[in-house]
Amino acid sequence: MKTRRRRKKTTACALLLAVSLLAAGCGSAGSDQGDDHPALPAGEVEKLYQANCLACHGQDLAGGVGPNLQQVGQRLTAARIAEQITSGGKQMPAFKKRLTEAETEGLAKWLASQPDG
Ligand code: HEC
Repeated sequence: MKTRRRRKKTTACALLLAVSLLAAGCGSAGSDQGDDHPALPAGEVEKLYQANCLACHGQDLAGGVGPNLQQVGQRLTAARIAEQITSGGKQMPAFKKRLTEAETEGLAKWLASQPDG
């Protein structure tokens, strides 16, 4: 009797531990403040574009010093665009130090999903 009870308790403890571990895992993944991939506020991406990219890629992504980006989503994936932003190109500067990962990702996804793309 005594032994059985103890075994039960151990199982319960293990279960509790598993559940709390799971909860902790979910908590950090789904947290609003998680630094992993916080969503950018609406309009933020356009502001980032205007501040960092417009000078070369033009009003409405029409191009200038840099190529037209209106249909860049047809040529490049969001991941590839993010890479271009982070590391730059032959003439394009790298934005690794000027944009956060979330900002870069937001810009990349926004560009990849342009309506004209
Ligand atoms: C100093 C000018 C300049 C700035 C600022 C600039 N770019 Fe560029 N960008 C270029 C040039 C030039 C190219 C093409 C040649 C190369 O890779 O350097 C290019 C290429 C790209 C490409 C690849 C396009 C293709 O069709 O292959 C993407 C995507 C891009 N830029 C996005 C951005 C974003 C987003 C920003 C702002 C964070 C930005 N660029 C800022 C000059 C610039």
